[in-house]
Amino acid sequence: MLFFVVLLVLALTSASLAAPPSNRFARVTCPILLDGRVPKNFSLEAFDRPNGIFNPDFVRAEDVPWSQILEFPDGPASKFDVPLYRPVEGTIDDRSIFQNQVGFRRYGLQFANDKANDTTDSGVVTLHWSIKLDEEKKLDLSHEYLMVWHEAADFSTNQFNFNTGTRIGTNGTDRRTWQLLDRNSKLLWSVPHDKNCGWQNFALTLDYVRNTLTIYYSKGTSPLKKAAGPFSNNNSGGGQFQMGMLKKPTGVTGSADISKNGFQPTGIKEAVAYGGLFVESSAGGCVSK
Ligand SMILES: *[C@@H]1O[C@H](CO)[C@@H](O)[C@H](O)[C@H]1NC(C)=O
Ligand SMILES: *[C@@H]1O[C@H](CO)[C@@H](O)[C@H](O)[C@H]1NC(C)=O
Ligand SMILES: *[C@@H]1O[C@H](CO)[C@@H](O)[C@H](O)[C@H]1NC(C)=O
Ligand SMILES: *[C@@H]1O[C@H](CO)[C@@H](O)[C@H](O)[C@H]1NC(C)=O
Repeated sequence: MLFFVVLLVLALTSASLAAPPSNRFARVTCPILLDGRVPKNFSLEAFDRPNGIFNPDFVRAEDVPWSQILEFPDGPASKFDVPLYRPVEGTIDDRSIFQNQVGFRRYGLQFANDKANDTTDSGVVTLHWSIKLDEEKKLDLSHEYLMVWHEAADFSTNQFNFNTGTRIGTNGTDRRTWQLLDRNSKLLWSVPHDKNCGWQNFALTLDYVRNTLTIYYSKGTSPLKKAAGPFSNNNSGGGQFQMGMLKKPTGVTGSADISKNGFQPTGIKEAVAYGGLFVESSAGGCVSK
C-alpha cells in the first residue's frame, strides 16, 4: 500500500514538474549509485581534501590542487542541480600535465566512491551530465578532446568516450559537435554545440548485461529524450568514470605515443562547465528525465 502511495506521489510530482514553463528543474527518479552533484555550500578548498563528492587526488597535475583548477561558474545551474547543487568549471592551462603525459593537457573528476568494480560496473546504469562551453575560455577545436568517459580497470581502453573537436584521423568537419564514441572509437552519434540554450544535457545508459549504450539528450531545462541506441558495445572490464578535459596533441606521426608526443600550444586557458553529475540505477528501465 505504502508503495502505491509513494508511486502516486511521485507520479503527481513529476506530472506537475513536466508542465512548462514552470519546469525549471528535474527530479532524479531512480536510485543514485554515485553522486557528483556539488552542494551549494561547498568551497573550492573542500575539493582539495577528502570530500565525498570527487577524488581529491586524481586526475590532475600533482602540484596543482583542485582549488586552482575548479571554479563555480556564474549563471543558472543545470536542471538536475537546481535547487540544491551547483555546477563546477575546470580550466586547463600549461600546467595541466598529469604524471609524465606531456602530450596531453588534462584534468578529470572521478566520483569519490567510484571503485574499479562497484555497483556501476554491472547491471544497467545511467550516467548523467550537463555541459556548457565558456566563451571566455574557448576550446581549440583543431584538437581532439575527451570530455566524459569510462576507463577500464586495467587502463587498457575506455568503454566509451564523449568527445569534441577534431578526432585524430578525421578532417574535423564535425568538430563543433559533442560526439559519442564506442569502445573502438567509432562515432555513434553527435549533436552540434549550442551556445544559446544554456546547458546541453546528456544521459548514457550502460547496459552491462546486453552490452549496449543508449544516449539521451535535451537542451536547457527540457526533459531528456532518447536520442540514439541501443548500440552494441563491449562494456566489460570494470573501471571508473571520468568527467573533465583531456586535450590530445596534434601532429603525432606513426606509432608515437600520443601521451608523450605531438604539439600543444602554450599560453592556453580553456574551460567548460559541468553540472548534474551522477550515476543512477536503470534496473527496470528507469532513467531520470
Ligand atoms: C553543507 O550543508 C550540509 C547540510 O546542511 C552539511 O551537512 C554539510 O556539512 C555542509 N558542508 C559544508 C562543506 O559546509
Ligand atoms: C564485479 O562485480 C560483479 C557484481 O558483484 C561480479 O559479478 C563480478 O564478478 C565482478 N568482476 C570482477 C572482475 O571482479
Ligand atoms: C571530411 O570527412 C567526411 C567524412 O569522412 C567527408 O564526408 C567529407 O567530404 C570530408 N570533407 C572534406 C572537406 O574533406
Ligand atoms: C570484451 O572485452 C574483454 C576485455 O575487457 C574481452 O576479454 C572480451 O573478449 C571482449 N568481448 C567481446 C565480445 O569482444
